Order: sequence, then C-alpha cells, then structure tokens
Amino acid sequence: MAARQIRIAMNGVTGRLGQNQHLVNSILAIRKEGGIALSNGDRLVPEPILVGRNAEKLEKLAAAHNVAEWSTDMAAVLADPSVEIYFDVAATAGRLPRSLQAIEAGKHIYLEKPIADTLEDALAIARAADKAGVKNGVVQDKVFLPGFRKLRKLKDAGFFGRVLSVKLDFGWWIFDGEMHPAQRSSWNYKKAEGGGLILDMFPHWRYMIDGLVAPVTAVTCRHSTVTPKRRDEAGRPYDVDVEDEVAATFELEGGALVQVSSSWATRVRKDDMLTLQVDGTKGSAVATLHRCFIQPEVATPKPAWDVQTKLDQDLFAHWQEVPDVDPFKNSYRCGWELFLKHVVEGTPFPSPLLAGAKGLQLVDACYRSNRERRWIDLPELTL
Ligand SMILES: NC(=O)c1ccc[n+]([C@@H]2O[C@H](COP(=O)([O-])OP(=O)(O)OC[C@H]3O[C@@H](n4cnc5c(N)ncnc54)[C@H](O)[C@@H]3O)[C@@H](O)[C@H]2O)c1
Repeated sequence: MAARQIRIAMNGVTGRLGQNQHLVNSILAIRKEGGIALSNGDRLVPEPILVGRNAEKLEKLAAAHNVAEWSTDMAAVLADPSVEIYFDVAATAGRLPRSLQAIEAGKHIYLEKPIADTLEDALAIARAADKAGVKNGVVQDKVFLPGFRKLRKLKDAGFFGRVLSVKLDFGWWIFDGEMHPAQRSSWNYKKAEGGGLILDMFPHWRYMIDGLVAPVTAVTCRHSTVTPKRRDEAGRPYDVDVEDEVAATFELEGGALVQVSSSWATRVRKDDMLTLQVDGTKGSAVATLHRCFIQPEVATPKPAWDVQTKLDQDLFAHWQEVPDVDPFKNSYRCGWELFLKHVVEGTPFPSPLLAGAKGLQLVDACYRSNRERRWIDLPELTL
C-alpha cells in the first residue's frame, strides 16, 4: 500500500467556512487519518497550500494546523505544476477571474457556491473548464447532511406517493452591528462584493429541490431590504444595497409548487433554521439539517380546531423520527472525498460546474422575476 500525495491550493481558508469546514473538518481530517483509500489499495493524502491576501493570518493559520505551505502569491502557486487542484472558498466577488486563472494554469477546479455572481459568468467558468479538459465541481454540501439524506431515501422508497406541495423555510436573525456584532461578514450585504440573500442561498435551494423533490421549471419572486443600515466589522455604518428577505414560489416538473421563505431578519421558532416539508398523497416529511420526521397517510391525525377553548394538543407528537442508521460524516468532507477520487481515478462526481451554473440560473431568474413582477421559466442548461 503506497501513499499518493495530492497538492491543493486552497483560497479563502482564513474565512468562516473555509477554515472550519473545508480545511479543518475535511482536508486536514482526511490527512490526519492517513488519506482516503483508492481502488488499488493506495492511500490518497491531500496536502493543502493556503492561499490568500493576508500573510499574517495565513502564517498563523498554517502554524496552528501544521500546514507547511502558505502564500499570498496566487500566480506563483498556480505556476507550480505539482499543484493539481485549485479550490476557491474566498468571498464570492472575484471568483470568475480567480477561477479562469486557475483553469488557464491547467488545474482541476473545485468551487464554493455561488460559482459566480451571474449565470453568464457561471457558464463562462463551466465552459472554460470543459474546454480545458480539467476536472471540475461545485460544493453541494446540503445533500450530504443526515436530515436531507433521510429525505432522499424517503423519495427513493416512494414514501410520498404523488407530491402535492413543498415548503422550504429558512431564516435566522443576523444582528445589525448595533446591539451585538453581526455574525455574517459585511460583504454579504454589499452588491459589489457578491452579497445578497438570493445569491447566497438560492444556489442551495436549486440543487436541493432538483435532487430531493423534482426539477425546478419556473419561479416567481419578491424580495426586499428590511434592514437598510448596518455596521461593519470595524463598527462603521454602511447602507445595505441587497435583499435580506425573500418570498418565492418554484414550480416543479409535474406541477407541484414550492413555497420558499428565506430571511436574515427573522427569529427562529420551529424545528431548525432550515426546514423542508414535502406533502404527498401517501405521507409527509419534514427534514432539517440532521433530523427528519414523517407522518404516513395511515397515521395522519385530525387536529382539533377550537376557537372557544385553548386546546392542550401537541401536534409534534404525531410525527415519527427517521432513525440515524448511517454513521455521521461531515457533509463538506463527503464532497471532498468524491471530488478527490474523481480527479485521481475518474470516478463520477455528482455536481460538475454546470450544476453550479444551474444555481445561478435560478438566482438570475429570481432577480428578474422581482424586477419584471412575473413568472420566469428555467429552460434546460447546456455547456
Ligand atoms: N456551502 C455553504 O453552505 C456555504 C456557507 C457559507 C459560505 N459559503 C461560501 O463561501 C464563501 C466564503 O464565505 P464565508 O462565510 O466563509 O465568508 P468570510 O467573510 O468568513 O470569508 C471570506 C474569505 O474570503 C477572503 N476574501 C474576502 N474578500 C476577498 C477578495 N476580494 N479577494 C479574495 N479573497 C477575499 C477573506 O480573506 C476570507 O478568507 C462565499 O462564496 C460563500 O457563498 C458557502
């Protein structure tokens, strides 16, 4: 059994998501366990090179995690032929030029969502990768979460019968920087820096609904900016020029509708910050990140409606939880393991950059629907 090293340029790992999920819980966790098994019995061991703009932060991060290499010179890292993969988890703005630079250097490419700011740019990256013949992929972490895996199993088992309707409810309270510091970076609230709730979350909604229920064929959307003034990381006030509240409806192949509610300005009182409810003729399910609850047709109760008396009925008690059967594995790591094997052994990877472009197709359609106050169709996308 031999160890095969694979060098990965990781850009943006000083950030919130890159550091915790992609670097520590994925790449370093795989490295710590001696790599992943290849089909010939060898072990594939990832070796990260941390790339970014701030030398001090990169040096500190590398030292904290026993990473040998870091650099603020992306061009020099890309010029090194021993670096095989470029990964981008930096702020969304600028992903287009960074990605094209990496593709031009011949690197296989793995990108966080959204892969670009617009559909046009997303397709430009996907087409460039295809033309260059490099392996490519977009992170679609949510499908690997235990709750949504369980939902997928229900779908595959035919649990729902005919799907009648779907509700996707996402939201939490993001502090505006007055009473407490904001828990999201200020770039999320600036158009020029790749901000906006639709651009941030709707790429997830696209692959989740496409894969867990049915393909999205059309959308109607209204959005607004409910918190127009915020304070940034340094406490400086700024004007918000993106949406932080969105109400949308998706139409699916087969005709079912998805009611989509997304907010960065709501207080949570439900099963989780993200819930997906599927109602079918034979049963319903509510999935969260880790859990999934079902109510089959034969166990559906008749809740009482009483305007005269305050009833003591526990509606949650009528749902059965789908048990954890598979061992837990970090959802970002699941994507990494598939992508690394895809690069080295050519095994299938479920989300090439064209799938990432589909996310931007939905994003663009939402903005257009809001502007034009009408339904927008989503035709099939090709390279
Ligand atoms: N898959 C998911 O569920 C998920 C979750 C969170 C974030 N993301 C994506 O990951 C990316 C980073 O998000 P985050 O929450 O970690 O943000 P963050 O603000 O915590 O980190 C951003 C990172 O990008 C770097 N950066 C900022 N501006 C840059 C610029 N102009 N050029 C190059 N690098 C720059 C920062 O130094 C930092 O390393 C975003 O594209 C976001 O959409 C995905």
